[in-house]
Amino acid sequence: MSSAPAGSPSGGIVHIVGARPNFVKAAPVVAALEERGARQSVVHTGQHYDDRMSAVFFRELGLPRPDVDLGVGSGTHAEQTAALMVRLEQEFTTRSPERVLVYGDVNSTLAAALVAAKLGIPVGHVEAGLRSFDWSMPEEANRTLTDQVCDMAFVTSPEAVGHLAREGVPSHRVHFVGNPMIDTLLAHLDRFDTRALRDRLHLPEVYTAATLHRPANVDDPDTAARLVGRLHEIADQTPVVMPVHPRGREALAAAGLGEHPGVHLLEPLGYTDFVTLVRGAAAVVTDSGGVQEESTILGVPCLTLRPNTERPVTITHGTNRLVAEAELPGLVSKILAGDAAARDTDTPPLWDGHAGERIATILRGTS
Ligand code: UD1
Ligand code: UDP
Repeated sequence: MSSAPAGSPSGGIVHIVGARPNFVKAAPVVAALEERGARQSVVHTGQHYDDRMSAVFFRELGLPRPDVDLGVGSGTHAEQTAALMVRLEQEFTTRSPERVLVYGDVNSTLAAALVAAKLGIPVGHVEAGLRSFDWSMPEEANRTLTDQVCDMAFVTSPEAVGHLAREGVPSHRVHFVGNPMIDTLLAHLDRFDTRALRDRLHLPEVYTAATLHRPANVDDPDTAARLVGRLHEIADQTPVVMPVHPRGREALAAAGLGEHPGVHLLEPLGYTDFVTLVRGAAAVVTDSGGVQEESTILGVPCLTLRPNTERPVTITHGTNRLVAEAELPGLVSKILAGDAAARDTDTPPLWDGHAGERIATILRGTS
């Protein structure tokens, strides 16, 4: 990696990563640019900082160690976004990037895009144009505003092209490249050994995997308690295995999640173990964006506890289904009985493992 020491001027492409999904998306882009001899560096904002939310991904995904970690940490949206912007402005001023690349829809994404745009540094957005049209989600603000200030929009899904066009983004800025998160999954497919994981973690043969971390599901104690009740109903039928995101830890524990003998709670898993867990599951219950996509490729039925999704291609071309909390136990029992409706599992277009290469080729063509 042709990186400069932290803090010194380096030019080149600067990747901004900060939260768990960013690492999975950036890895194939960084690797493809490296193969093409690009000058690049990785700036970690420190939005996620626990080893299991951050460093484990660098160890597993072949991402180079970040050139710098800005150590921003947690806070309210305003506190975190303000701290991100102040530190990123200092970083960009000393590092003088030729281009900044941002990923997904987290606070680090928008903060970096806004700071770069105001410094006159071109910004590329990987995973541009996704829309839930649900402005109660912080991610909707992050992704929509990022798309307004970037000059290159790298799109993972065809409908995103239309969203950007309707918002006035000129078509020459939009590049439909496929999905780098799926590049990472396909590149590691032979590591996802479900039997070995079951043996190592003492998991049952048939289980439902679950993840929950959206504020709408875990921040309010009453909502969290209702969801815990449904997860217990699922656990009456089949064990539930759940790596718990730190955001939901307290509320879900307070609602008694771990008190059912059929619920197996785990710390957040590293990437390989996590995707293996999903691959081996009879069904997955989630509110994660990435898991909707991964389960589509793995062919595992996915029940998404949300009223909407910015990833409709996982419904039309995948295994995903949006569900209300009350439907969950019945749907899981149908899946277990093998009488869930057959799904069209055509792979979404360009989810073929080459998105990172396409992004790198486009970037090299413009530098
Ligand atoms: C963030 C993203 C969300 C993404 C998710 C992926 C925003 C607004 N949200 O949500 O879009 O789906 O990451 O996982 O950017 N915490 C720890 N250890 C950590 C990190 C966080 O304990 O390493 C705890 C802290 O109590 C913190 C809380 O988790 O206050 C929330 O963290 P934050 O990064 O603000 O948002 P996420 O819910 O993780
Ligand atoms: N993931 C992981 N370990 C876990 C949970 C998730 O490695 O315990 C990975 C998985 O690849 C997932 C990605 O992290 O797609 C992002 O997950 P998260 O649900 O945190 O974020 P979102 O995609 O909802 O923004």
